[in-house]
Amino acid sequence: MAIAAPRPVDQTPAAPAARTRVAIAGATGYAGQELVRLLARHPAVTLTAAMSSGATSAPRPMPALARIWDGEVIPLSLDKLATDADVVFLALPEAASAEIGTALLQRGVRVIDLSGAFRIRNEANRQRWYPATTTLPAGVVYGLPERDADAIRDARLVSCPGCYPTAALLALLPLADAGLLEGSVVVDAKSGVSGAGKTPSERTHFSENHGSVAAYGIFSHRHTAEIEQELERPVTFVPHLVPLDRGILETIYVTMPRGTTEPQVAKALEGAYMSAPFVRLTGAALPEIKHVAYTNFCDIGWKVDEPTGRLVLVSVLDNLLKGAAGQGVQNLNLVLGLDERTGLL
Ligand SMILES: NC(=O)c1ccc[n+]([C@@H]2O[C@H](COP(=O)([O-])OP(=O)(O)OC[C@H]3O[C@@H](n4cnc5c(N)ncnc54)[C@H](OP(=O)(O)O)[C@@H]3O)[C@@H](O)[C@H]2O)c1
Repeated sequence: MAIAAPRPVDQTPAAPAARTRVAIAGATGYAGQELVRLLARHPAVTLTAAMSSGATSAPRPMPALARIWDGEVIPLSLDKLATDADVVFLALPEAASAEIGTALLQRGVRVIDLSGAFRIRNEANRQRWYPATTTLPAGVVYGLPERDADAIRDARLVSCPGCYPTAALLALLPLADAGLLEGSVVVDAKSGVSGAGKTPSERTHFSENHGSVAAYGIFSHRHTAEIEQELERPVTFVPHLVPLDRGILETIYVTMPRGTTEPQVAKALEGAYMSAPFVRLTGAALPEIKHVAYTNFCDIGWKVDEPTGRLVLVSVLDNLLKGAAGQGVQNLNLVLGLDERTGLL
């Protein structure tokens, strides 16, 4: 019998796929500048507009982005966002996001929002923490890509999780799903100062923050409501400001059912993140902020005290990337049906 020759590889060059037009409102902020850097190099999109608030006549220059993106920052224009982009990123204070996000949805534009404006589903909680969002429009999806990929693909507006909640939820959700959370959950979180945005305050002033570590927002931080919403259980969340420019480290204390073993914990986490490109499980080798700074990774390590059923997890990420712009681009990739890693590795 004659053996068929292998089919020749088709050498016809594929027609270049049309690029998706994206724009950024809030491009001059900390998270917005990271979006500019990522989207300017993203192979499937064209960055058509990057906007400041327009409150000042001369937008802040972005020298770190020279030769990465040499476009002009323009003042905020809802019309331009709606006409020049298929997908708009909002890296704005939440009140501005609530208004502009809702208006863009009404004009049929898809939105990826980094603020908290659309995260909270319970009306009373939303009124308390994000009062500018009077109603949650149809098509809003809370977008933690490792858990919500299917819903994100069909979303009209992806509401990206907060930086602290991303680190906490990635560590805790697989354990909740496996029935391993019992009793209290304590999230002791440390963040670098860029988490507070570019406008300086007394708390973030160099001479206040340098050489010190301060707890804040105990029982009064809005990320508590977000973590509890997604985890569906009470959480004691205590954030701290540390003298770093970027990065979050959370030490998470959990009580598990007696008799729970370390392999059960490992199985729950490994099962959840087997094919997740941006979650790296480090087991007993505890991760550090330096391992994830300037990346879209969240690294999670843990230790189990089997006789007492106590578990301590350590979860780290870069608040401006996996906690904000990187996660936003990961969500864009899902919306566009691309590999989640596109433009991020
Ligand atoms: N920083 C983080 O680690 C982080 C992490 C996750 C989520 N987020 C969320 O992402 C959003 C942006 O955070 P950020 O830290 O990048 O803030 P930021 O550094 O303070 O930047 C805010 C941006 O929004 C613009 N802006 C301010 N008020 C505006 C208004 N009324 N209308 C239109 N534009 C306005 C600013 O423009 P000008 O330059 O003209 O002032 C700037 O471009 C916030 O909702 C924040 O909660 C931040």
